[in-house]
Amino acid sequence: MADKSMEGLNNFTAAAEGTAVDASKKMRIGFIGCGWIAGSHIQSFLAQPDVEIVAGCDLVPGKAKAFFEKYGVEGVKTDYASHKEMIDDKSLNLDAVTICTYNRQHAEPAIYALDNGLHVLLEKPFTVTLDEAVEVMRAEKRSGKVLSIGFQPRMDENMKQIKKICESGVLGQIYYIQTGGGRRRGIPTPFGTTFIEDKTAGIGALGDIGCYSLDMVLNAIGYPKPLTVSGYKSAFFGTDPNYSGYKNGKGEEYSKLFGVDDFAAAFVRLEGGIVLDFRIAWAMNLDTPGDTIIMGTKGSLRIPSTECWNGTVGGAMKIYHECAGLQVVTEIPIIKMKEGLFDLKIRTFLDACKNGTPAPVPSSQILYNQAIIDGIAKSAEAGREIEVVIPEI
Ligand SMILES: NC(=O)c1ccc[n+]([C@@H]2O[C@H](COP(=O)([O-])OP(=O)(O)OC[C@H]3O[C@@H](n4cnc5c(N)ncnc54)[C@H](O)[C@@H]3O)[C@@H](O)[C@H]2O)c1
Repeated sequence: MADKSMEGLNNFTAAAEGTAVDASKKMRIGFIGCGWIAGSHIQSFLAQPDVEIVAGCDLVPGKAKAFFEKYGVEGVKTDYASHKEMIDDKSLNLDAVTICTYNRQHAEPAIYALDNGLHVLLEKPFTVTLDEAVEVMRAEKRSGKVLSIGFQPRMDENMKQIKKICESGVLGQIYYIQTGGGRRRGIPTPFGTTFIEDKTAGIGALGDIGCYSLDMVLNAIGYPKPLTVSGYKSAFFGTDPNYSGYKNGKGEEYSKLFGVDDFAAAFVRLEGGIVLDFRIAWAMNLDTPGDTIIMGTKGSLRIPSTECWNGTVGGAMKIYHECAGLQVVTEIPIIKMKEGLFDLKIRTFLDACKNGTPAPVPSSQILYNQAIIDGIAKSAEAGREIEVVIPEI
């Protein structure tokens, strides 16, 4: 269903499944950003037999060095003042970078790395704005390198099951989707304020966790193009100095710095006559804003919400349908996974780079995710429905 212009960038396959790893052919990896999520990346990279972590940088002096020391990785060059300096160091012979920077620093390092012939694993959300995502994709097209976006829930067998159910035809024609989720008190400030300040995050709950719930349903139904968005966002909790989620007496300081959304909602029209009803919260006076539901002419799927939404399935899913004139419910049990999602995210990325196969989480799909996020922000600002216009890549 995606654009003609997306052809060739739009072939998601689980390329890595079942392929043996050639440990003699090592991938030379550089880290851009050495904060919280980089900690998950490094453990998963270290678990691969075909990886050499050769460099890392962070805007905070000394942070990259301390990071590699913490994980016991020796011989990593870290004396760089910026990602540009690191990428320009041709003695490193880098193959790929993993970009673990805050949202406002996703686009620039990704473009610079791609334009310098490197494969890129870029953390979610893709970018802050649609225009940035378009610029990154243009660099991807120029370079011919792999760009994969860090949506590890894609690797979850339960998520794959949702897609299989939608594709099986058991739901008939899908016409309405409700998705989203949230936390009661869950504004992320574990290691500081990079998630809540506009200058670093740019978007709040909408981009941080909203992107996951959008991906869960949009990937399941083949990523139809968004056409119009009527969006809303607010920040009642984050800007409240008495918000009980701010610990250690930080309420006064954090509430002043808070410059993004902590709640967003939208009504989105998608190509193919499908409507999407979405809401996401970092904080709310409620347990959940509702399960995810996918309604079709032959059946509907209910995906239970989770208490702390981060892109997982909250329990056994149910399909409501008709069987020989009876209203029946089929329960789809949760699949327990042996592998970690972060390991699979890293492995599938490496395999795509080494085998020349499509990115496991391709930008051409996540572009539509970003277009909805961007549309919600713009519509909320304008106070009316807006048309989604996606530039040519
Ligand atoms: N996939 C997941 O499950 C998951 C989980 C948490 C965070 N994330 C994403 O990862 C990103 C980073 O989150 P975090 O929690 O690690 O944030 P963080 O603030 O702990 O770390 C970000 C680091 O990037 C550094 N940085 C920023 N711009 C840089 C640049 N141009 N060059 C070098 N260093 C730079 C900062 O100094 C900081 O140390 C966010 O976009 C977030 O949405 C993903």
